[in-house]
Amino acid sequence: MSTDPDTTDADTDTETDASPPDRIADIVDEMTLEEKIDFVHGSYDPAELATGYVAGVDRLNVPSLSLVDGPMGIRAVPSTAFPASIALAAAWDPDLAREFGEAIGEEARGADQDALLAPGFNIIRVPQCGRAFEYYSEDPYLNSRLAVGAVDGVQSAGVMATAKHYLANNQEADRHHVSAEIDERTLREIYLPAFEAAVEEADVSSVMASYNRINGTYAPQHRRLLTEVLKDEWGFEGFVVSDWWATHDGVAAAEAGLDLDMPGMPVYDWQCHGSTFLDLVAALPDEVWFPKKDLAEFVSRPWQPANPNPNVLDESPFDDPLREAIEDGRLEESILDDKIRRILREMARFGVLDGEQPEGALDTPDHHDLARRIAERGTVLLQNDGDTLPLEGSERIALIGPHADEPKVGGGGSSEVDPTRATSPLDGVRDRLEIDGSVTFERGIEPVGDASMHDSPLPEIDTPWGENPRIEEAMRAAQDADVAVVVVRDLSSEGADRDLELPGAQNELIAAVAAVADRTVVVCNTAGMVTMPWLDAVDAVVETWYPGQEDGNALASVLFGDADPSGRLPVTFGERAADYPASSEAQYPGVGLEAEYSEGVFVGYRHFDAAEIDPAFPFGHGLSYAEFEYSGLSVENGVDIEGATDPESETDAGPTATLTLTVENVGDRPGRDVVQAYLAAADSSVPRPPKELAAFEPVELESGESTTVELTIDERALAVYDEDDADWVVEDGAFEVLVGRSSRDIRARASLEA
Ligand code: BGC
Repeated sequence: MSTDPDTTDADTDTETDASPPDRIADIVDEMTLEEKIDFVHGSYDPAELATGYVAGVDRLNVPSLSLVDGPMGIRAVPSTAFPASIALAAAWDPDLAREFGEAIGEEARGADQDALLAPGFNIIRVPQCGRAFEYYSEDPYLNSRLAVGAVDGVQSAGVMATAKHYLANNQEADRHHVSAEIDERTLREIYLPAFEAAVEEADVSSVMASYNRINGTYAPQHRRLLTEVLKDEWGFEGFVVSDWWATHDGVAAAEAGLDLDMPGMPVYDWQCHGSTFLDLVAALPDEVWFPKKDLAEFVSRPWQPANPNPNVLDESPFDDPLREAIEDGRLEESILDDKIRRILREMARFGVLDGEQPEGALDTPDHHDLARRIAERGTVLLQNDGDTLPLEGSERIALIGPHADEPKVGGGGSSEVDPTRATSPLDGVRDRLEIDGSVTFERGIEPVGDASMHDSPLPEIDTPWGENPRIEEAMRAAQDADVAVVVVRDLSSEGADRDLELPGAQNELIAAVAAVADRTVVVCNTAGMVTMPWLDAVDAVVETWYPGQEDGNALASVLFGDADPSGRLPVTFGERAADYPASSEAQYPGVGLEAEYSEGVFVGYRHFDAAEIDPAFPFGHGLSYAEFEYSGLSVENGVDIEGATDPESETDAGPTATLTLTVENVGDRPGRDVVQAYLAAADSSVPRPPKELAAFEPVELESGESTTVELTIDERALAVYDEDDADWVVEDGAFEVLVGRSSRDIRARASLEA
């Protein structure tokens, strides 16, 4: 029997290959209906580690499959807490995403897990999105490059990656029911590309169907998206897993293309629920005199969102409902067989089937170093008036903030990680100072807390809160110091959207400190923009997102100039919510559980440019301690692009032009720049954004060093999606090529003929 995964590729079509001569087909042939049903939904993990678990079939030597959260670290066990995905995205570096993917894959293997429930890369359509910190960007191209890097990396470590959440899970408000109402062109140009790239370029192992509806249909039951687009059009050969309790109608989902229902049990039986109340319900014997479901419903009601998930208390819709549908002929068994084959194919491909998986490495010094490097690279220096930063290291520093003595490890939800060590800003700065005792710490205001979906915050940090913090003490400390560094945070978690105002009295604290300090630096631990009423009053603003366990170390490196703050914004920082494209209630959060994506392709900077709104900080923005100059931009149309309109064309995602330019570091410090190329179509038969990101390249240069940068433009960057032809089309005409250091800082221009 062959175990070579390649020999199974052709066998994924049940209709044509009734009994292919390979191990997977043999297993499927020999499985009973009961065994098949059990293999397409989750069950209880005896090791109590996996977030999702498919029991093996001992009789046929089929091992179990363990899937684990999540995007920033391994949920099951104490592990390296990497920076938030949006911090990784801010590095604009697909190679770094690949390196990160490999490390987190090794951590998953170190915890004896087979599949990672990550990366997540929904488009950040609204700044309020409660999971923006778990995602990458508002731009489909940047999103795609990072998704491919991360998936490649995870899978290179011998772990299945999961592309999530497919599709249009762009808000947490009403996420269990809201319907994203999106036209086809917008789907193709904005929301689908990163998934398409993860499938076609990185051969992602699995795709997670999201909670929400898309144009009226729940994602796990969306035949068009799961079967027609994902499997048939893109050739996806892996399996589609549901988000947890996302499946409503088992038979409809099975027919639509869902392959694996998770977690396959009610929340109180699931070992990862993280709630003391549900733990108590779970501990009750099965034969209690009242239904456990009613009790679980009762105890969980207080923390349920407005439109809760109705399925969390139910058995799997892929259990009895599927069996009955097959037994009474409503569902063909071959549909079930295809699902099993898909899961087994991935198990064979990653060595799970034969127990030949790589060892893994959990919580290693190398991974801690990488977590720190990502945090440094992802840090965005938003403002630096009068070259306030970097600090010399000899200043008297007042470190202020309600949580400045706590690391900001992550946001709330399934991505929460429990690290074995973590450094706070206070510890990081103290360790780096040249003169002992030259940092004073004042909380200034009452703590604002931490967002966690668990009963107790993770990680548990022993924080002596101190008595009655007073803003006057913070002001006094600021006055006595050479520089005040104020660390603030937002509260963001899966399951609810984010407030764009800093919680508690943090705005007042910043304003009060800035009024008396010589120089004020604000450090934002946020999932994206927050309103900054104090912006003009402060000197420097540093966005460090949720930096993970290396928070304080990375912050100190950047503040003192050991590392260049080389992050660039992967999302636009607007001044206020109303400036964003989805600013009406009908668009966000939606009316009657429908969110109209009527802004179409004008998401993020595409809208700010078209509507001529000045953002606080534009997409792609980020200052450096170095200074870069661009020169000698030339464009070479290298590849015939005729084929782009041909539906059979193999080349429509291939390269079409090359840009070459020289970048020189004319500053007196080493630094890292991200060269960004945007395209602007001169004419178009459909409304196009004034500019769209088409290529980028990070470069690292010593002071005085210069380098030649080559950027490749793919045909897809020139194309629009033609709904009538159901294909990508490159329209004749000229494009302006805009090369710069952000979407609003264009340094060189050229033209390109299509
Ligand atoms: C989240 C997924 C996660 C799953 C398992 C869901 O609530 O949306 O991203 O993988 O839970 O924890």
